[in-house]
Order: sequence, then structure tokens, then C-alpha cells
Amino acid sequence: MKNSEETVLTGDRPTGKLHLGHFLGSIENRLKLQKTASGKLFYMIADVQALTDNAEDPAKVRAAVLDVALDNLACGMDPKKTTMFIQSQVQEIAELTIFFLNLVTISRLKQNPTVKTEIEQKGFKGESVPAGFLMYPVSQAADILTFRANRVPVGEDQLPVLEQTNEIVDSFNRIYGKTFDRIKPVVAKHGRLMGIDGKAKMSKSLNNAIFLADKEEVVEEKVMKMYTDPKHVHASDPGKVEGNVVFSYLDIFDPDPKGLAKLKQQYKKGGLGDVVLKKRLAAILNDVLDPIRERRRELAGDPNLVMDILEEGTRKARQTAREVLREVKTKMKINYFQ
Ligand code: TRP
Repeated sequence: MKNSEETVLTGDRPTGKLHLGHFLGSIENRLKLQKTASGKLFYMIADVQALTDNAEDPAKVRAAVLDVALDNLACGMDPKKTTMFIQSQVQEIAELTIFFLNLVTISRLKQNPTVKTEIEQKGFKGESVPAGFLMYPVSQAADILTFRANRVPVGEDQLPVLEQTNEIVDSFNRIYGKTFDRIKPVVAKHGRLMGIDGKAKMSKSLNNAIFLADKEEVVEEKVMKMYTDPKHVHASDPGKVEGNVVFSYLDIFDPDPKGLAKLKQQYKKGGLGDVVLKKRLAAILNDVLDPIRERRRELAGDPNLVMDILEEGTRKARQTAREVLREVKTKMKINYFQ
């Protein structure tokens, strides 16, 4: 592989359907890179990672594998260009994880801001966090480096995890000789999308998400529930634009920025009702989601086809993984019988 070549790897945890936060956070960048990247593209369904905090709910993870594959395909992922595979079916990733675990300390893992936040969110108290969950940044480094990826589209919240990947690259290269390139995260220009309730992050577990598969009416209902300005009671009252969820979404999705600027002025002065504004947003979001929903419905009618895509992708992914692990083991002097 040439150093300048862009090899892309990205992934989703299969724990449920994907939402608009995923779309903006990383799916859009995946699709852009699908057009522009000079090297190979990999998309991984991270079922092993999903199990790190869902060990007791394998049925949920199993069902969500199909869901996240459908969501990505519906958005425009092309299996001819992007190798789509299932993490658990590439044993080399697990092997590399074990080797990497020696290069990382428990205290470093506990300090990882992403892991810390997630531990809080998931309600693990004290030392009760599963060891597998605590060390998922190590397994994620293995996800990426098993394929020698150097561009990784992710949501902003994943940056500290990727920083750990680069620490692992440095340690590995220092100890065993130059093997891996440092990686570059690819983050969305909009930052993170807030939930419909105004909380900092859209998330399934916070129950504040608009899913890519939501029906038109459901999108409308959710937009109608969006947090705006609690002091803006009557249309004639002056309203606040900052912290107003409807405006923060319009800032991202409204194709007419001039029109939006006028609406903001009107809202601030008074004379623009929330419902009018929300109807505009719902229509805009439904325009974005219509083609995705349509394609998703078609694909969902033939789940075997989707599983065939994943099976073929997994077979291809294994070939690359085998080659890389052979080199890793040589570097680590554990290539006994060659
Ligand atoms: N941790 C990522 C998330 O929660 C999913 C993921 C797993 C991933 N392995 C990856 C993303 C490798 C990028 C690269 O969204």
C-alpha cells in the first residue's frame, strides 16, 4: 500500500435503528469518501462491540445487524465500492485486540472521556463496568488497524477513542518496528446533532431521536414535540433562537439560508408561531428522508439479499485481515511454523 492511499474504515454498533445524528455524524462522510477515496473502503457492523454492554441481549444485537445494514444501504452505501462485513466473523480482529491490550493501561482506559461518559450514561456504578466494555477502545483500534485503515469517519464523541488508536500505533511501531500508519478521524462539519428535547446528543437510549426509518407522520409528531423557547407562548411574543431545537435543525437542513435568516428575525421580534416553523422543518426533514425510506422499504423486502452482501463482504474482509495479521505476527516474533 502506498502511504498516500486513503483506506477508509468505519462502523456502527448494532443496537437499534440508526437516526439523524448518525446520518450527519458519519454516514454523510462515509458516502462522500465512497466517491473520493483513493484506496479501499470498509464498513463494519460492530456486533462484538455492541455485545460489550449487551451481553445479555443477543437477540437485540442480532436483529439490529440487519437494521444498520439496511440504514446504510438505504442512504447510498454501495457494496461494490464499500466492503460491508460483520465484526465477529473476522477472528483476526479479536486476535489483534489481545495483542494491543498489552500496550494499554487500565488507568488510561478509565480516563478516556468517551468511555467515561458512556459508563455514566449506561449507569455502571463503581467498578461494575464489564471489562470488555472498558477496553472497547482497544478493540476499536484493532477494528481499524486489521485493515490498515487511515481515514475513519466517526461522530465527534468518538474522537478520544481514535486518539487511543494513534497511541497504540505509536507503541506498536516503537516496540515491534514500523508497521502501522497513524490514522485520521473524519468528523462532520456540523458537530453533533442535539436531541429533539434539546439535550446535547441525539440518542436512542435518551429517547430523543428521529430515526431514518421513521414514517412521515412520526417525523411530524416528533418535530411538533421539539423543545423551542418556553417563554414564546403566543405567536406574537418575541422568541429566542439560541438553544431552540427547531432553529438548530433548520441551520443544518434548511436549503434556503436567506429565507431562514428572515424567519429568525421575525421570530426574535415576535409574530412567528412555533407551529408554522415546525411544519417547515418537518417538510424539510421528510424531503431528506423520503428517498432513504423508500429505498429502505425495498431492501427490507429481501433480507436474504442483504445477508448475501454481508457474507460476501465478510469473505473479502477476511482476506485483508489474514494478510495483515501475518505481518503483525512476524513483527511480534510469534510466527513459529512458517
Ligand atoms: N464505536 C463506534 C460507535 O459507537 C462504532 C465503531 C466500532 C467504529 N468500531 C469502529 C467506528 C471502527 C469507526 C471505526 O459509533
